[in-house]
Amino acid sequence: MTEETKALVKATAPLIKQQGEAITQTMYPILFERYPGAKELFKNASDNQHKKLAASIYAYAANIDRLEALGKAIETIAAAHVKTKIKPEHYPWVRDALLSAIKKVLDDKATPEVIDAWGEAYDFLANVLIQREKELYKNS
Ligand code: HEM
Repeated sequence: MTEETKALVKATAPLIKQQGEAITQTMYPILFERYPGAKELFKNASDNQHKKLAASIYAYAANIDRLEALGKAIETIAAAHVKTKIKPEHYPWVRDALLSAIKKVLDDKATPEVIDAWGEAYDFLANVLIQREKELYKNS
């Protein structure tokens, strides 16, 4: 992840704080419409799942220049993912739906540069989670 990407993502942190729940509430219907297989994965999800996802996206944006602050959150998320059998091939689904939702909610503030930066930042975080989940699956 480049420094420029980190700076662009971090600059959106206040917007994500304000609009995070609107973004994730917009994301789930897109996710389930485009990837019907996702419905099964979320069938036992808590009612406030969109709030948890919004909080984690904000924490990521705010701490992207000091990722060590996210260690505990990574553990919690990876554990929840292994419990619900999330696999690497599911990550592009959320990437697509999340970026579409960011575009929709942030509208003209979601410039192509901002969307590209979020795409790169998502891939970085997705890889961290996928690696951790791989270890947890192996040990389970
Ligand atoms: C970078 C990408 C992702 C982030 C930041 C993220 C974040 C989170 C967070 C914060 C939680 C709640 C953990 C807790 O219990 O406190 C969670 C749980 C969960 N995530 Fe993800 N997630 C990502 C990718 C995915 C993908 C790709 C899928 C599947 C398509 C997915 C499906 C789920 C499910 C089913 C749960 C459990 C919900 C529940 O039991 O209430 N996540 N995730």
